[in-house]
Amino acid sequence: MGRVEWNDGLNLGIKEIDDQHKELVEMVNGVLEAFERGEKDTAIDKLLKQLKEYTVHHFNAEERYMEKIGYPDLGEHRRMHAALKQSVKSLQAARFHMEKISVKEVKELLSGWLVDHILRVDYKIVKFVKDGGGKDWSDNIKE
Ligand SMILES: [Fe+2]
Repeated sequence: MGRVEWNDGLNLGIKEIDDQHKELVEMVNGVLEAFERGEKDTAIDKLLKQLKEYTVHHFNAEERYMEKIGYPDLGEHRRMHAALKQSVKSLQAARFHMEKISVKEVKELLSGWLVDHILRVDYKIVKFVKDGGGKDWSDNIKE
């Protein structure tokens, strides 16, 4: 079960957000590795708690950025963030209720949403700015 590999295709060109995405990838990998190594429950739960907190911090930052540039699909994007936060919470709840979760499920849940969200959903923010929306902030985007 491999790690989630960061690649330049995941870079949006907005430094603050890219740095946070990289950090999230590291944290997701930390959780996956802890599962694979069969770490103690307390250790895994601690990592999941940190991941959840950082996810909330990151989504807030991203939503502030979208507000700043007047991003038209903010409402929809916010709903997706809420759903993702919920999926990390359900993972925690499943563990709390001692349900058996496989590493594969954890990987699909965490790396799936992360990479998918960055590539499909966050990428639309960059496209909006590059297409001339949020002009005042276009200098935030590197070519
Ligand atoms: Fe996002």
